[in-house]
Parts: sequence; C-alpha cells; structure tokens
Amino acid sequence: RTKTVGLIVGSLREHSFNRIIAAAIPELDTSLAFEWIPLADLPLYNEDVDHGDGPEPVRRFREAINRVDGVIIVSPEYNSGIPGVLKNALDWASTPAKTAALRGKPVGLVGATPGVKGTILSQQQIRQTLEAIQARVLPFHKMYVSQVGDKVDAERRTLTDDTTRKYLKRYVQQFILWIDQARALD
Ligand code: FNR
Repeated sequence: RTKTVGLIVGSLREHSFNRIIAAAIPELDTSLAFEWIPLADLPLYNEDVDHGDGPEPVRRFREAINRVDGVIIVSPEYNSGIPGVLKNALDWASTPAKTAALRGKPVGLVGATPGVKGTILSQQQIRQTLEAIQARVLPFHKMYVSQVGDKVDAERRTLTDDTTRKYLKRYVQQFILWIDQARALD
C-alpha cells in the first residue's frame, strides 16, 4: 500500500521559505503520496469549544491527521521557539487525550531559517510538545536548513541547493522507515 505523508507548515506567510522546503519533499520520493494539512483556518485553542468534533476547521484538521500514515512538520523558529500558529495547531491535535489525532502518530521535523542556527531551538520545543502528546517523533535524525535564502529560488518557489535536497531525501527515507518501526510499537 502506498504510504501517505501529511505536510504541515508552521508559517502562514504566502512566500514562506518553510513552505518552499515542504513543497520540495513530494518530488524526492514518487512512491509516496502527500497531503497538505493547512493551519490557516484553525481558531485559537479554547477548551470551552473543545467538545465533540469541535469547530469545523478543527474537525477537518484532526481528520486529515488521522487519514495519513505520518506527518512531516516544516516550521520556522520565532523568538528562539515554536511559532504560535503551530503550537495552537498541535494543541488542537492533542485532545481528547485518548483519541488525539497526533497520539501514536509518526512525526518528522524539518525547519528552515535565513539565520545560521537552523531552527534548533524551535525544533527542541516542537519535539517536547509532541512527546507530551505521545506522538512518535523520528529519533536520532535531524533536518536543519540554515541560510535558506541562498538555497531556494524565491521567485519560482523551488529548492535549488543540491546538498540540501540530498539531506532532505535522506531524512524522508529515514522517516518512511520510522513509520513502520513506530507502528510496530502499537
Ligand atoms: C523570526 N525569525 C527567527 N529566525 C530564527 O532563526 N530564530 C528566531 O528566533 C527567529 N525569531 C523570529 C521572530 C519573529 C516574530 C519573526 C517574524 C521572525 C526569522 C525567521 O526565521 C524568518 O522570518 C523566516 O523567513 C520565517 O519562516 P518562513 O515564514 O519564511 O517559513
């Protein structure tokens, strides 16, 4: 069976570098199916409205995560940490605890920044949040993209750096192996 990987981008910016990197992923492995899982419509988390299916955009978001075999999150770093829009989305995917969309879900982490530290700090926070949710984050392997402005064609919105593509491909291959390993933990 063809595996389907959900792609979540932690930036709402139209010309997001992280979106460009995420868009390069489906071209790396044509044996996989991919589904974009957008965050833009999600309301701010509010426990008062978090009952039953919740608000319609939340229902659709959770359903999309349930549908896919694994999720790759491609996110920027804001103020040395996780962007609020992404944290908000992860919180929605963390409830109800026993049937949470991300619980037990294989997750890969990628981050891009024009800076030189590759989103290390935001990825640490994302990992910590995902561990609280009991998502199964790909261990050992990391994928940081520094100085991303030099590695993409911003006009055409494509990844142009071959070295980055090579590492990204390796990361996706490790993630696909991880989907089966993580499933075996059930
Ligand atoms: C940033 N940026 C940033 N970069 C980084 O490497 N570490 C950081 O702590 C921050 N902090 C930060 C805070 C805020 C509020 C903004 C708006 C930006 C810069 C950030 O990496 C840059 O804007 C990226 O282009 C954002 O990712 P997208 O939207 O291009 O995917």
